[in-house]
Formats: sequence, C-alpha cells, structure tokens
Amino acid sequence: VTVAVVGGGQLGLMLGLAGARLGLRFRFLDPAADAPAARAGELLVGAYDDAELLRRLCDGADAVTFEFENLPAGAAPPQLLPPAGALAVAQDRLHEKELFRRLGIGTAPYAAVDTRAELDDAVAEIGLPAVLKTRRFGYDGKGQAVLRAAAAVDAAWDELGGVPLLLEGLVPFERELSVLAVRGRDGATAFWPLTENVHRAGILRQSVAPAAPELQGEAEELAAAVLAELEYVGVLAVELFQRDGRLLANELAPRVHNSGHWTIDGAATSQFENHLRAILGLPLGSTAAVAPSAMVNLVGEVPPLRRLLEVEGARVHVYGKAPRPGRKVGHVTLVEPDAERLRRLLELAGEPTAGAATIVA
Ligand SMILES: Nc1ncnc2c1ncn2[C@@H]1O[C@H](COP(=O)(O)OP(=O)(O)O)[C@@H](O)[C@H]1O
Ligand SMILES: [Mg+2]
Repeated sequence: VTVAVVGGGQLGLMLGLAGARLGLRFRFLDPAADAPAARAGELLVGAYDDAELLRRLCDGADAVTFEFENLPAGAAPPQLLPPAGALAVAQDRLHEKELFRRLGIGTAPYAAVDTRAELDDAVAEIGLPAVLKTRRFGYDGKGQAVLRAAAAVDAAWDELGGVPLLLEGLVPFERELSVLAVRGRDGATAFWPLTENVHRAGILRQSVAPAAPELQGEAEELAAAVLAELEYVGVLAVELFQRDGRLLANELAPRVHNSGHWTIDGAATSQFENHLRAILGLPLGSTAAVAPSAMVNLVGEVPPLRRLLEVEGARVHVYGKAPRPGRKVGHVTLVEPDAERLRRLLELAGEPTAGAATIVA
C-alpha cells in the first residue's frame, strides 16, 4: 500500500514514520532535495504545481494527501484527501472566518481589507488593538502586524499592503487551545482531548494535553460542524481562543498539526496514524490520552542531543532540518510531566521558564 504526500517537511516525516509500522510505503513531493521526509520514503524533488511530477507522485498510490497547505488548489489531484475544497477554505483566512460564522462558531471581529481606505474603515469598525494579516500564505506568525495605536497603521500598511488582507480584533484571550479531530471515509469521527498552546512571536512553543475538560464538548461540537460542512476526511485542527470561558475559533489547519505532536507519545493513536487510517478507509483508532503530556518545540536549532536525553523520560523528535532562526527543527514530549523536568527542557529549548509550572496539567 502506497501513500502519496504533497510536501516533505516534518509532518511528512512523522506521517511516514507512523505509516511504516503499518507496512505502508510513502512517496513525497517537495522542492527541497534535503526534505525531512526523505528519511521515510521516496522523495520526488520539484515544484508543487509541476503536473508531470504530481502525476508521478500519484501513480499507483492508494491514497493521496498533503502536509503542505499551499499546494495550489487548482493543481490538486482529484483523489486528494482531505478534499481540495477544505484545502481551498483553509488557504484563505477570510474564507475560514466566513465558514466559522456560517456555522455559528464565534470568532474575533474581522473585516476584509484590500485598500488603504478599507484599512481605515476596518480600524474604525473593529477598533484597536487589532491584528492585520495577509489572507494567504501566512504561517508561524508571518504576514501579520499587531496594531496597538493609530500611529501604527501606516507602517502596517507599508509592510503588508498590496495583497488581500484581513483585520481582526486582538482577542484578550485567557488561553489558546486547539482541538484535533479526525473523520474517516465512512463519516466516523473522533476527537483528541483539547490541547493548551503557548505561542511566542507567533510560533508555537509549548503544548499540554489534556486541557480544559470543561470545554471539550463545545470544542467537539464546533469541530464536528466543520468536518461535516467540508465533507472532510483525515485529521483537522482548529485553533481556538478561550475568552470569558467560551471558545472562539482562530484558524483551521486541514492536516496534522504541531499542537497534536504530543499524540505520538501520549495518545492511544497518534494524529499521524489516524490521518493515514482515515484517508485509507481503515478503522480509526482510539484518541484517548494515555497520560498527561507536555510538548516543547525546538525552534532555530536542536540543543545537544545528549542534554535533551539527560532529561528523564524525554521523547525527542529531531526533523533533520538545517538550523535557521524561527524554524521548527524538532520537539520533545514529556509524558506525565513534572515542573522540574519541564523547566529543564524549556531551558534547553531557550524558552522562558517563568510560569511554565502553571501549564503542567
Ligand atoms: N485575533 C487575534 N487575537 C489575539 N491573538 C492573535 C490573533 N490572531 C493571531 N494571534 C496570535 O498569533 C498567533 C498566530 O496567528 P495565527 O492566526 O494562528 O496565524 P499562523 O497561521 O501564523 O499560525 C496565534 O496563535 C495567537 O497567539
Ligand atoms: Mg495559527
């Protein structure tokens, strides 16, 4: 059984590692000859919209999926799962927000902005602070500017103007959460326990799960509505803000997600394995947490492996990427974390350790 994957980053690598156990073979397409997923299968090197390479990628494959979200939706192979329609919605922050609104899911106030005049109108309507985002191609906080005062509007327009934008009210959230969901080809659904996430400079740094059990029902309900609406197959992540004890949806990821990496070590079935089961039409596995887990991202460069492994129980995942500031190069999971081991890990990862203990489940 062969799975074709558009994209060969760390998400592809972890899909390949999960699938190898089930006897699956993988073929990836990525522009980089040193893509991480090359360690888990055959790698075709070239552009995502190269029709001939896409044909070769899909040739004889039993399922075709993606781990890279900016595959031009027009170039999507017909067998693609999750379906191209879900990909298209998730590629545009305005369409995501409109989907949430249509389904009665709360969001930050927002307005589409295409011109300088529309930016002034949107600021007048939404108020400050707000955050201006490019509608397409943003990730890890890229393509965003926070507006705290009217004086910042010009600079934000100079930085981001010229492409379709979205202005959102800045949500004074109590915390960030995400819900990971999976839907099979037969329509069966399952949800992992909510994950609490800490971002710094727009990049995910830490997650803990299970989190916020009192909001699990609300989160599953909103994720189920999105899955049904998009006739979804595979793993879906919805990023959430907790505000006044209720959930607001921030964005969708139509794929396995960084906030679900703890499921490799901390859940009965990982997000990667269940994604593969879903797209291949196999029975879904249990999404239960086997124990509380904490995950710390390694950003920029991997600390010395020996130091990471000295932290008892650390499950270390290294993606094999060249170091670069702001780049996700690995992650470490602690199952049944305690404050002291988490503090040591955060220190090694170069993260502030103040307050870390409060996030330990
Ligand atoms: N409207 C908002 N209110 C408050 N914080 C926000 C808002 N939008 C984004 N952020 C912060 O920036 C992070 C990254 O923004 P996000 O919209 O998720 O884009 P990306 O695609 O880069 O992940 C969020 O996880 C959150 O911490
Ligand atoms: Mg995000």
